[in-house]
Amino acid sequence: MEIELNTIIDGVQDKMPHLSTRAELEAYKATILGPNGAMTAVMKSMGQVPKDEKPAAGKLINKAKSSVVTAFNEVMQRIEAGEMATRLGPSIDPSLPSPDLDRGTLHPISQVREEMVQLFSKIGFSVAEATEIETEHYCFDALNIPADHPARDMQDSYYLPDQLTVANVEKHADEKYLLRTHTSTVQIRTMLESKPPIRIIAPGRCFRRDTPDATHSANFHQIEGLYVDEHVSLLDLKATLDYFVKTIFGPKAKTRLRPSFFPFTEPSFEMDFYSPDLGKLSNKWLEIMGCGMVDPEVFKSVDIDPDRFTGYAFGMGVERIAMILQGVDDIRYYYQNDVRFLEQFA
Ligand code: DAH
Repeated sequence: MEIELNTIIDGVQDKMPHLSTRAELEAYKATILGPNGAMTAVMKSMGQVPKDEKPAAGKLINKAKSSVVTAFNEVMQRIEAGEMATRLGPSIDPSLPSPDLDRGTLHPISQVREEMVQLFSKIGFSVAEATEIETEHYCFDALNIPADHPARDMQDSYYLPDQLTVANVEKHADEKYLLRTHTSTVQIRTMLESKPPIRIIAPGRCFRRDTPDATHSANFHQIEGLYVDEHVSLLDLKATLDYFVKTIFGPKAKTRLRPSFFPFTEPSFEMDFYSPDLGKLSNKWLEIMGCGMVDPEVFKSVDIDPDRFTGYAFGMGVERIAMILQGVDDIRYYYQNDVRFLEQFA
């Protein structure tokens, strides 16, 4: 019996590599394990085995059967793997770039924001960010903006419902949440977190109740700048703004500071620039930002000693710069997501 069983096992081992489809496997399996199969025949012959040899014979048969079944399972796995590979098609390398043609690009506003962030980071500014939901304190009070300032009017800012809780923005019971109206809030949050020297720019989204027209949008973007240290002077501000304007609008561009007023800077200015190479906008003074020396009242609200430290701040609209650079004459194009518009900046 042992010889017969070994012959069957050897036969199965020899046959295995040649079985390549389910049908071939099933047909061959029947000749071994089917009702008329070779293994079945050996099992049937157990009847003639003398009683005292039966346990040993049974063991031999079981061992042989399990080795044959294991062999058939292996063949089945190989066949299934082959079928799966055929279904999946040729192998791919997922680390290669996608072959898709229509890939997205940065939005034109993001492109300009990136360019501005890059040029300020080259001269030592790091990027600071804060929440778009703010409290009246950070948006106004800490910036020395008085209670009767028009920006604080219900008609000018987006106030949020009183019952709202914003887990990551702490608020006093007697003030309101609102969507920030400018990025100057980041000045305050940064000065509370870190002490001078501070040199940051804060790009971000702002919100005002403006009626949309060619130059106004209820949602827009600003970039804020803040530099605080000992001995920071107006000359530092002027030099930084000159560098900014010449880098972004070309070396022939000139800047000018015009006296103005902001509650959080003293003195305050509007900065205009002028360029001979700006198409339709050439050779005109264009106003692009507010700026000034940080008001001592602001330093007091963040516990920085105004007798020891001075600083400058500036803030400008990203859309305004983008419109000048990209020759766009209506701010609303930026938010309509019309691919024909966006593609021009891809
Ligand atoms: N926050 C002002 C606004 O939205 C812009 C501004 C003016 C920012 C002067 C400044 C600044 O940092 O110094 O109109």
